[in-house]
Amino acid sequence: MTTLTPIPPLADDLEFLSIVSQWDPETPYQQWIPSTLVPATFRPAAPSRVFVVTNNKGGVGKTTTAVELAAAWASMGLRVRLIDGDPQNAAISFWLGVVYPEGLPVAERYNLRHVFLGTDKDPNNPNAPVEDVSLDQATYPTAFKNLYVVPCDDTLTRVEYERSGGTDDALRYAIAESQEQFDVTVIDASRTMSLVTLACLIAADDAIIPIKPGVLDAQGSVSINKVIAKIQRRQNPKLRVAAILTTMWEKSNLAREVEESAAEDYPEAIVSPVRKTVSIAEAPATHSPTRIHAPRATAVADYGQIARLLLDSVSAA
Ligand SMILES: Nc1ncnc2c1ncn2[C@@H]1O[C@H](COP(=O)(O)OP(=O)(O)O)[C@@H](O)[C@H]1O
Ligand SMILES: [Mg+2]
Repeated sequence: MTTLTPIPPLADDLEFLSIVSQWDPETPYQQWIPSTLVPATFRPAAPSRVFVVTNNKGGVGKTTTAVELAAAWASMGLRVRLIDGDPQNAAISFWLGVVYPEGLPVAERYNLRHVFLGTDKDPNNPNAPVEDVSLDQATYPTAFKNLYVVPCDDTLTRVEYERSGGTDDALRYAIAESQEQFDVTVIDASRTMSLVTLACLIAADDAIIPIKPGVLDAQGSVSINKVIAKIQRRQNPKLRVAAILTTMWEKSNLAREVEESAAEDYPEAIVSPVRKTVSIAEAPATHSPTRIHAPRATAVADYGQIARLLLDSVSAA
C-alpha cells in the first residue's frame, strides 16, 4: 500500500492578485496592475461539479490549468477526479503518474478509451463479447491524496472511427452512472474538435478557457467562443463559461485587450491572469503539481485563488 502525499495548503503570506468586480479600461497602462475580475453576477459552483478545460489551440496552458486547479481543490480536502481527454501526449498521465492496484494485469488497466469502447477484443477468443467499462473502473489513485486520474493514451483516437454511435453523451452518462463520490471532476480536453472532445464539452457543467495572449491566440479565442456557443445551442444548454484565464501572463497591451474582450464576451465569468512562472514548466518532470514542486510560485497563488473562487462550499484546509 503506497502512502499518499497530502497536497499542502498555500502559505497565507503569498502575494495574491487583487480581486475587482469591474473591468477598468481607464487606468493608464503604466499604473495598470493584474487583477482577478469576479463580476457581481458570478456564481460559484457547488460540488459535485464537472469542469472542462478547453481551447481549440494547443500550448495555451490547458493541461497546466487542469492539473493545478485539481491539485488546489485536492489540497482543500475535496475528492477530485481528473480525466485526461487529450490523447496527444497523455500529459496528465505522465505528469501525475497513475498508481495501479498491485497485481492488476496490464490488460485490465483501463483508460478513457475503454470507457467509450469497452474492453479489448481477446485475440485468443475473438467471438467473446466486449464488456462495458465504467468510469470508476478506469479511475486510479495518483501519489497524491484526494487526486484521482482517468488516464488516456494515443489509442483514444480509435473512438473516432470505432464507436458506432452515442459518443456524444457517453461521458456525460459515464459520470452520471459513477458510484464513487467525487466532489469535483476536471476534464483536460484536446484542442482537436474530435468526437471525444465534443463528449467532454457535453459532459461538463462549467468550461474554463485558458488563453495565451498573443495575436493568434486572440483569434483562437474567437473560434472557441463559436464552439462553445454551438454546444450551448445544441447539445448542452447548461454549459457555462465560468472562467477565462490569461496564462503565461506578462504585462502587455495585448494581455489587457484580451482580458477586456473576454470580460465583454462573458460578463458573468471570472477573468484572471495566471502569471508567467518558470517553475510551472519544470513541474511535469518532477511528477508533482507545481503546487508541491514550487509552492511559492506566483502562478500557484493565482491557481489557488481561482480554485477558491470557482467553488462555493470549499472546506478550508
Ligand atoms: N503560467 C505559466 N507560466 C509559464 N509557463 C507556463 C504557464 N502555464 C503553462 N506554461 C507552459 O506552457 C506550455 C504549454 O502548457 P500546457 O498546459 O501543456 O498547454 P496545453 O495543454 O494547452 O497544450 C508548457 O510547457 C507549460 O509548462
Ligand atoms: Mg495539454
